[in-house]
Amino acid sequence: MRQILGIRACLFDAYGTIFDFASAAARCPDIPEGQRSALTTLWRDKQLQYTWLRSLQGRYADFEQVTNDALDFALDSLGLASPERQARLMALYLSLSPFPEVPETLRALRQAGFTTAILSNGTPAMLDAAIRNAGLETLFDAVFSADAVQVFKTHPRVYEYSLEKLGLGAAQVSFQSSNAWDAYAASAFGMRVVWCNRYGQRRERLPGAPDHEVTSLAELPALLAPPG
Ligand code: 2OP
Repeated sequence: MRQILGIRACLFDAYGTIFDFASAAARCPDIPEGQRSALTTLWRDKQLQYTWLRSLQGRYADFEQVTNDALDFALDSLGLASPERQARLMALYLSLSPFPEVPETLRALRQAGFTTAILSNGTPAMLDAAIRNAGLETLFDAVFSADAVQVFKTHPRVYEYSLEKLGLGAAQVSFQSSNAWDAYAASAFGMRVVWCNRYGQRRERLPGAPDHEVTSLAELPALLAPPG
């Protein structure tokens, strides 16, 4: 197996990669079971569209507002609108379940000498809450939010910001995302990329070429040569 050489830090996307965003609707018993997956999909799709559209328009609003606006749209579209339900789902977004392999993978990477960090569109408050509620606070060295640069991924400024904070070059960082669009953008930016294709997405027809494609982060430690 071809290992990636020269990596010093492992940088992770948050939502869909570390945290399972489907776990919010799954924990809402008043949403009919048959509608939970439709809600999760529409909420996520709209949330991402709003990040890209706002970035194009130069009208930044933080990820909490974007997430709430997208949820409002999704609940309305599916005939599920209710202020209480919306507030409950937003609160649940702060305590999403981590994917099962996450703690052990982070431990293994840190033991091997890698720096571990998150790079997400989430606000610092959203990310801090999610990390704390998942019991992962000792497993990340740093958390970087796009909020610091007031534009969302896939703007190159976001990836660049994380490198400035890490004090590393792009080729010294392995970026992991379950989102194909994010994985391709980080690769086009110059980072090494392991695309964690949890959702069976097709490859993007966009600039970039992830170095590896896996289906679980548990495969990551074996793909990276430990820092010397
Ligand atoms: C992130 O965490 C939205 O999954 C994306 O930045």
